[in-house]
Parts: sequence; structure tokens; C-alpha cells
Amino acid sequence: MKIACFASGSGSNVEALFEAVETGRLQATIELVVCDQKQAKVIERAQARGCDIFVFTAKDYPDKPSFEREIVAELERRGVERIILAGYMRLIGDVLLSHYAGRIVNIHPSLLPAFPGKDAIGQAFRGGVKITGVTIHIVDEGMDTGPIIAQEAVRITEDMTRETLQQAIQQVEHRLYPQVIEEWMKEEANV
Ligand code: GRF
Repeated sequence: MKIACFASGSGSNVEALFEAVETGRLQATIELVVCDQKQAKVIERAQARGCDIFVFTAKDYPDKPSFEREIVAELERRGVERIILAGYMRLIGDVLLSHYAGRIVNIHPSLLPAFPGKDAIGQAFRGGVKITGVTIHIVDEGMDTGPIIAQEAVRITEDMTRETLQQAIQQVEHRLYPQVIEEWMKEEANV
């Protein structure tokens, strides 16, 4: 299966996906990394893997449909069948959604519907909850609202700081995302 990863930041989840592809745990090829931040570390990571990268600056376009049309053209040119969001800090718009309906997944660092939106880890930490976690879901037009595919809990213990909580969550993400994507792609292929 040909996939594309969308990211805006560090890209540690994209790195985990590259590793899973390399070891055969994820039966896919990452055809393209799409990034909306010129300085993002994910760009270096994709370069190091020799992967094609499409970097864009939203401000250079009149509106969201204009840059999404360009992204769709890049995806279709490479035969991309699934889109994997991994820290892509933009709402997916109508153009991408209509071309890839039901074929876009996202990972979010909380047990949705708790703590949607930005800084979910900080929200959970400041909120004093004892359990948070990771959610993987299909993307719809809302912010972190689509159908949930998988979740895993992470316990917040007394000795944790926001940083150690983030590390614990990312550890779960890096293991869970490739595994769940692999299962999801297989199920979808059988429908
Ligand atoms: C992850 O925690 C993911 O759940 C959220 O954004 C973060 C991206 O981290 N959507 P990274 O760029 O993969 O390191």
C-alpha cells in the first residue's frame, strides 16, 4: 500500500513509521512526506530516508482549497492510497477529505473525546487526571472527532512531570501507530 505522512513538527512518529516499513512490520511504502513548516525537523528525517517531501507555506496560497489541490496532485501523481497524519497541525479541508474519504487517519495524545485540540498532554497534566493515553481515529471534518479505531491508556503517576508524561505517551504512540495502521489497511483492503 502506498501511503503519505503529513507532519508539522519533530516527526518522531513519522520516524517510527519509516522504521516499521524497514523492518516489514508495516507493509507499505512511504511515497511522500507533506509538511507545512519549513523549519520542521521531520524534513531532515525524511531527507535522511531519501523520501520525497512536499513542503508548503499556507500563507503563500489564497486559501485552503488552493494548497490542498496542489497536495492532492502530488499524492495522485505517486499513487498514494492512504494519508497518515502525525502531528499535522491543520484541519483537513474539503478537497483532501473528498479525495480521500475514510482513508485518512490521525493520532492524538489523549483518550478522545477528552482533551481534543492543541496541547492535549498539557491539558491532561494540568487537569490532574490519573489516566490519559493515545487515540488513533479516522479523520472527518471536525477537530479530533472522527470514528475511533484504537486507544491505549497511559497512567499518570505521582512522580511524573509533563515531560516524562510526554515521553510515556510517545513511547506508546511509536509502537501503536504502525501496528494499528497495518491492521486498518488490511481490513480496508478486504471490504
Ligand atoms: C504526537 O504526540 C501526536 O499524537 C500529535 O502530535 C505529536 C507529534 O509528535 N498529533 P511527533 O512530531 O511525531 O514527534
